[in-house]
Amino acid sequence: MEQNTYAMPRIGDQAPEFKAVTTQGQVQFPGDYSGSWVILFSHPADFTPVCTSEFMTFASLEPKFNEANCKLIGLSVDGLYSHIAWLRTIKEKIEYRGMKQVEVNFPLIEDITMEVALKYGMMMPGESNTKAVRAVFVIDPKGVIRTIIYYPLSLGRNFDELYRVVIALQTADAFAVATPADWQPGDDVIVPTAGSCGIAKERMENKSADTTCHDWFFCTRKLDKDTVLKKVLNRP
Ligand code: BEZ
Repeated sequence: MEQNTYAMPRIGDQAPEFKAVTTQGQVQFPGDYSGSWVILFSHPADFTPVCTSEFMTFASLEPKFNEANCKLIGLSVDGLYSHIAWLRTIKEKIEYRGMKQVEVNFPLIEDITMEVALKYGMMMPGESNTKAVRAVFVIDPKGVIRTIIYYPLSLGRNFDELYRVVIALQTADAFAVATPADWQPGDDVIVPTAGSCGIAKERMENKSADTTCHDWFFCTRKLDKDTVLKKVLNRP
């Protein structure tokens, strides 16, 4: 049977456009999110345990993401009434790891035709023909895809890591730096490598007191936590 095939979106691409019905009304994506960061994520199915634990966790963290100018929007290939019933069940019945009466206020897209899931490469037939994998797209205020992460059906996501990704991307943009392994606000950041060895050597020799060069291609500098949080979270 012939099926629409799409190139999978890549980091650096404009987020593919779509119009969809959600639990919070119609959305036009990514236009409705212009000026905000947004995490578009898929889950395999409503009324399943790993997804339930994920939604409770993500909904509980939503204010923290919103404070970082980042909105959330979920998707599965279930229909709207399934979504509504599942989210109501979560709110009314599920208590899990200290979370209860959790209200999911971010939109959840219905995608029974799989149009959006196919467009975003969320369907991976080797894993499932009928369920989207756990995909995460972090999209910037200009609608550019900045990070893509995929998890299989059996593996629940780490939402602290997704928050770290958003803050790290915002920090990289705001301070023109890169962030090293396991970076958290307050840790040293990486000064971009200069174009040629000669320039890098000169920079190594003339570096400021808060910069450490481990070699010509690897310089870090201090960037304190307050400066990061003030800038990316607009804190006074
Ligand atoms: C879950 O969320 O628990 C789940 C969903 C689809 C397949 C396996 C697990």
